[in-house]
Amino acid sequence: MPHVTGSPALINQKVAVSAASTGAAAETATVTTLPGVRTARPRHYLMCRPTFFTVTYAINPWMDPSVPVDVDLAMRQWEGLRDTYRALGHTVSFIEPVAGLPDMVFAANGALVVDGKVLAASFLAAERQPESPAYTRWLAEADLFTDFGTTSTVNEGEGDFLDLDTVILAGTGFRTSRSAHGEAQEFFGKPVISLQLVDPRFYHLDTAIAVLGDHDIAYYPGAFSAGSTAVLRRMFPDAITVDEAEAATFAMNSVSDGRNVVIPVESVRFAEALRDRGYEPVPVELSEFRKSGGGPKCCTLELR
Ligand code: ARG
Repeated sequence: MPHVTGSPALINQKVAVSAASTGAAAETATVTTLPGVRTARPRHYLMCRPTFFTVTYAINPWMDPSVPVDVDLAMRQWEGLRDTYRALGHTVSFIEPVAGLPDMVFAANGALVVDGKVLAASFLAAERQPESPAYTRWLAEADLFTDFGTTSTVNEGEGDFLDLDTVILAGTGFRTSRSAHGEAQEFFGKPVISLQLVDPRFYHLDTAIAVLGDHDIAYYPGAFSAGSTAVLRRMFPDAITVDEAEAATFAMNSVSDGRNVVIPVESVRFAEALRDRGYEPVPVELSEFRKSGGGPKCCTLELR
């Protein structure tokens, strides 16, 4: 298990050292290029135990109530994700699950928290609407946040809003409305870039884009309209892109601390791409949550 470190090791250092110790002439020693050094920042996450998790309704193409969910396995997988965050040195807080709200485990949708300000969610599906007051109450009682707001139209929290250093990326097309993007920009005083999602399997922005660093993302271009793909290409010309098969493993539903990237265990090629860029992939097993259209990121709300 990789550790969060304040002084990141030089990548490929070993190559240089062994070339020197074998006495190879400096001019013949091959040292691969350094892909850049990544630094982890300790994070605070909010999670919700999947006590009442199951699939009883279908609000995205991954959900089929006739496919059984192994709830014991789901619990163990969720505990594995929680333990992974703790082992990486992060703080994890917990909101009490509510009976009858099977999707409440997907904490990312509960709100968007940036700079100590909380934008409460407003869900599209009637089945999920009661989650919003539950999350808002927890965040108010946490006594950590100064400002609370919400939007007059649908917004599904961090599922559709991804915070970077100077901008917030926002998805629309299936859940969060375009006008909510404007309301979020006013509320946070931070530029919000609207991106059009076009593939129903990638219905939330966090299923199509993974935030890796302060201004570094990975994305699946096929999830976006041509115009929005062009926006991403302009803003992030060096970004990792993944293909459809890799995106279908929920590779983009990852959680990065700036160095360690918690990814689904099935996202093998994404793991390789991350390693090439100096990130440390940390695979987790979350198969039961995919039956509801969720991965690691969906189960995690970052408190900033
Ligand atoms: N079943 C949930 C829904 O369709 C899954 C939510 C996944 N959350 C996310 N942040 N992508 O609403």
